[in-house]
Amino acid sequence: MKIIFEIQRRKSVQDKPYIRKLTLETQDTTVVEALDIINAGELADDPIQWECSCKQKKCGACAMLINGRPRLACDAMLSEFPKGIIMLAPLKKFPNVCDLVVDRSVMYDGLKHFGSWLEGEAVCDDTGIAYEASRCLQCGCCLEVCPNYYAGGEFFGAAALVPASRQISEADKTDGKRLAKAYNEHFHKGCGKSLSCKNVCPAGIDTERLLVRSNAAAVWRREKRK
Ligand code: SF4
Ligand code: SF4
Ligand code: FES
Repeated sequence: MKIIFEIQRRKSVQDKPYIRKLTLETQDTTVVEALDIINAGELADDPIQWECSCKQKKCGACAMLINGRPRLACDAMLSEFPKGIIMLAPLKKFPNVCDLVVDRSVMYDGLKHFGSWLEGEAVCDDTGIAYEASRCLQCGCCLEVCPNYYAGGEFFGAAALVPASRQISEADKTDGKRLAKAYNEHFHKGCGKSLSCKNVCPAGIDTERLLVRSNAAAVWRREKRK
């Protein structure tokens, strides 16, 4: 098959981004494999920079905009684009470092700020919430489509809400109070429940279910106790 790639390139933050067009003739494969072929061939002297670790939908590193949609490049087959044009760009909610590489540290800062850990003994969760939430790849695709998330804001988006749901479901009473307070500040007040995050999550995490459970545990039960 013949694919026309239009790839956003930029050597460093000082340089202006530009689009590099090229054509690739190959068998059907994933976008990451296509990038490897391009980097080993036509662009061997100036390879495209992008992040990748597992090539198996396990690490979240290869998240990028593919024809405008946030996706994992190792989970996108060339045959999914029958028009034969694939546009690649870096995620836009994070600072662009170079080519398709972004700095996602703001996501981890959100987790630290929320206090995303257990201080007491873990309580056994029989609802399946902890297991569901543990599948989060920290890829950042959900933040890309979240209308309420912006870097530096007080709302941390689904990438932090999902791990928060896990901790809330496993927290003991004392820890639960700390997490409930932080949840109210950083998720409940900011989330518009649009659920765009659910539509794009490459791990298929049901953010709606996690939201409902965490709201019940962290907000509504607290209101009832008042
Ligand atoms: S919730 Fe889904 S989209 Fe968001 S960071 Fe986790 S795996 Fe990625
Ligand atoms: S439900 Fe909407 S506002 Fe809430 S985290 Fe998901 S995309 Fe963002
Ligand atoms: S390379 Fe790990 S998820 Fe794509």
